[in-house]
Amino acid sequence: MNAHTAFMDTDFTQRLVDSVESAEDANKRAVTNTVLAPRFYTTDFDAMDKIDISSVRREWDLMMQEYEGDNNHDHFQRDAAFADEVHTLMSKLDEGLKQEFYDFLIGSLTSEFSGCILYNEVRKNINNPDIKKLMTYMARDESRHAGFLNQSLKDFNFGIDLGQLKRTKKYTFFKPKFIFYATYLSEKIGYARYITIFRQLERHPDKRFHPIFRWFERWCNDEFRHGESFALIMRADPKLLRGVNLWWIRFFIIAVYATMYVRDHTRPALHDAMGLNATQYDFEVFRITSEISKQVFPLIVDIDHPMFKVYLDRLTALSLAMNDTKDKKGVFNLLNKGAIAIQALITFGKLFFLPVIKSELPAQVRLAPTW
Ligand SMILES: [Fe+2]
Ligand SMILES: [Fe+2]
Repeated sequence: MNAHTAFMDTDFTQRLVDSVESAEDANKRAVTNTVLAPRFYTTDFDAMDKIDISSVRREWDLMMQEYEGDNNHDHFQRDAAFADEVHTLMSKLDEGLKQEFYDFLIGSLTSEFSGCILYNEVRKNINNPDIKKLMTYMARDESRHAGFLNQSLKDFNFGIDLGQLKRTKKYTFFKPKFIFYATYLSEKIGYARYITIFRQLERHPDKRFHPIFRWFERWCNDEFRHGESFALIMRADPKLLRGVNLWWIRFFIIAVYATMYVRDHTRPALHDAMGLNATQYDFEVFRITSEISKQVFPLIVDIDHPMFKVYLDRLTALSLAMNDTKDKKGVFNLLNKGAIAIQALITFGKLFFLPVIKSELPAQVRLAPTW
């Protein structure tokens, strides 16, 4: 039993997920930017062009060989059992769970596709041969991931028009260093999320309510490697990992962890169906991600601090309260919204200023995906 099984789970039975009834709803969900939804990014390509990885050349070249070897080239194809499993397993599910699963598929697709677009744009706009090659491989992987998820949405006639999404979704500009912090974390947390689900369903195959989960093990090794790439890029430029940047690292860790926690707690049925408790699942994912991130970040947040979960729960409750104000009008509602936003900001600030745990960066950067 890990320390977190002792936590009482907070009851967030109220759902934030609006229902998806048509392809139009699904496409609208993907294009809409909210605090919790995955975003699309653009960056400073000239600065990307100047990245110099020579100080990590040996580890870099080994990693590039792995990309070249492409051990997942045949992975993202459905097997004969896939369609049958979708039909037999999904027909038993209740509507609430189905809706959370659609939301999970749409969110995952949007975030895979977000990586695909960013990596592709960087590739097209730079000449730096190391980074160009890396971006080509990562865009290749993300495009497979997004396509595979979209096939599953198409089974329910909720296919996303990726061309349209690329043209219409708003792009957020991030300086390269913020792209590195955010993308590193999202790749590694992606790995930790998929491997935790895969291991759980490996132990409890009766809880695997959709065949797509069978693909997660080899899938998440791609995400792990993408994270490794950003780790090497950051380790090659040590000023990204000291001074005021330590505050930025802290900010991104908290932002990524809190977003995941709040979003996962809006999908209670999904975790239930897999035999996972959203809180325990998220803390397991935090634990794995923090452990991995010691390869590049000289600090990790203290997820075992007694106030860490308290503040995350408060953010979740505030997010639900904010959701309640969504369809209401009037001055009082506006004031209420403002008050909730301020409380959320204060709570985020409290999380940000919790003590952190410092660690020494290892001489060797690369890690193997052994979780
Ligand atoms: Fe991916
Ligand atoms: Fe990735």
